[in-house]
Amino acid sequence: MEATGAGRRMCVVGASGKLGRYMVRHALDRGWRVTGVCREQSVPKLADFGDAITVVPAATDDRAAIARAVEGCDAVLTVLVPWGVKHYASGTARAVLDHAPAGARLVFSCGWHISRDGEDVYPRGTKVYEAVVGRLAKLARVVDVDDQVAACRAVFDSDTRWTVVRGSDLEEGESQGLPVWRRHVGDPALASNRTRRVDYARFMVEAVDDASLVHEAPAIVGRLTPSALSA
Ligand SMILES: NC(=O)c1ccc[n+]([C@@H]2O[C@H](COP(=O)([O-])OP(=O)(O)OC[C@H]3O[C@@H](n4cnc5c(N)ncnc54)[C@H](OP(=O)(O)O)[C@@H]3O)[C@@H](O)[C@H]2O)c1
Repeated sequence: MEATGAGRRMCVVGASGKLGRYMVRHALDRGWRVTGVCREQSVPKLADFGDAITVVPAATDDRAAIARAVEGCDAVLTVLVPWGVKHYASGTARAVLDHAPAGARLVFSCGWHISRDGEDVYPRGTKVYEAVVGRLAKLARVVDVDDQVAACRAVFDSDTRWTVVRGSDLEEGESQGLPVWRRHVGDPALASNRTRRVDYARFMVEAVDDASLVHEAPAIVGRLTPSALSA
């Protein structure tokens, strides 16, 4: 593996989740010095990395903790999740946008449901399903999709060097290689709507050094899925 990150520092915000841990692994494999931010109760989920990473135990919308964690970083990778109804995702995005060093590469994760320009075309039924599930989940105070939308809007409106990577449905399994991406959902190449998490994480890490992805919101799909192969 080429040590593309050697001598550089990366912060992974939301490091203890499934995607976060894959991102930490890819970053270490490429020689990055890694700091991970995760909730205090989730620190044990990073035990496998031992002393190879620095851990900042904090909620990801804790502005002081994020300021400390991103100091001196060349890249900040952030998992945006719609958990809770306390503006967790938008608070997380705001903290990263406000405190990351000027010029740092910022890469955020979210789902296909986020549309930057309204040009995405969703499979039939998806919107109705999301509206119903989103409303029920918000009532149950579990999920707030609107807040993830607000978080991404703040990123799109910022003058940082951002990329928002929009994931399809995810699955575990061996790597298929770097996912294929398109600018808009609805492109036939994305129709299979499946990506391996390990590959999503790789896309996030490699996006750091892909200048063509700055100010893009790529929608991704697994490289070996039928739709990607027939594109
Ligand atoms: N799941 C999918 O099929 C899917 C599809 C498309 C896009 N995506 C995107 O992919 C990314 C990763 O999603 P994932 O589903 O694979 O999950 P994941 O990587 O396991 O990440 C879940 C994250 O949410 C945090 N979290 C869980 N409960 C929380 C709570 N109550 N309060 C605050 N934080 C909490 C976790 O932190 P702890 O470790 O502290 O619990 C972890 O950082 C997200 O950006 C998501 O939008 C997912």
